[in-house]
Amino acid sequence: MKKIVILISGRGSNMEAVVRACAREGWPARICVIISNRPDAAGLGFAAANGIETKVVDHRQFDGRESFDAALEREIDRFEPDLVVLAGFMRVLTDAFVEKYAGRMLNIHPSLLPCFPGLRTHQQALDAGVRVHGASVHFVTPTLDHGPIVAQGAVPVIAGDDAAALAARVLKVEHDIYPRAVRWFIEGRLSIEGERVALAPSEPQWLFADIAGEGV
Ligand code: GRF
Repeated sequence: MKKIVILISGRGSNMEAVVRACAREGWPARICVIISNRPDAAGLGFAAANGIETKVVDHRQFDGRESFDAALEREIDRFEPDLVVLAGFMRVLTDAFVEKYAGRMLNIHPSLLPCFPGLRTHQQALDAGVRVHGASVHFVTPTLDHGPIVAQGAVPVIAGDDAAALAARVLKVEHDIYPRAVRWFIEGRLSIEGERVALAPSEPQWLFADIAGEGV
C-alpha cells in the first residue's frame, strides 16, 4: 500500500478527484491525510465527510516560510508518505522543502507549461491570444511552476470566453489528468529522464478536452 498526503488551500476539487479515483479504481494506495494551510478551506469538509484525517497548518501563525515549511514537513512526515500531492496548494515552498520531496511531489498548474506560470493563468492566456490552453501535472522543482511534466490536458479557447469560462473548461481536464498521473506514480510507472517523464508501459500523457455540446 502506497501512502499519499494531499495539500490543499481552498475548494479542493482536484483533491476530491484524486480521492474518488483512488476509491473507484481500487489503487494500491491510501490517502493518509489532507493538510490545508487555511482553516476555512472548503475541501476539508469533503475529506472529513469521507473519513480522511485532516490537519490545518495555518501559515499566518508562522513568521516566515522556513518555520511554516518546517511545521508542514513535520505533519507530512508523520505519515511517511510515498507521494505528496499539491492540489491547489497556494504557497510558495522553500527550496529545502522542495528538495526534500524531490521526485515524490506532484503539482497541477492550470496552464500548458512552460506557458503562463504564476497566478491568473486563464487571464494570461486570454491576453496572449492563444487558441489552445490547458493544465499540466508536473514534478515539483525549486523553480515555481516548473518541473518534469507528467501529463498535460488541452482545451480550446472559444470566442467570447472570459477567464471564468476558460477556467471551468480547464478544470474538467484537471480532474481527468491529475488522478491519472497520481495513479501512474503509485503504480511505479514514472521515471524522470532530465526534463522528460517517461511512462512505462506507455500510454498517452496528453488529453484533448471533449468539448461536445459547447457549441463550437
Ligand atoms: C486549480 O485550477 C489548480 O490547477 C490550481 O488551483 C486550482 C485549485 O482548484 N493550482 P481546487 O482547489 O483543486 O478545486
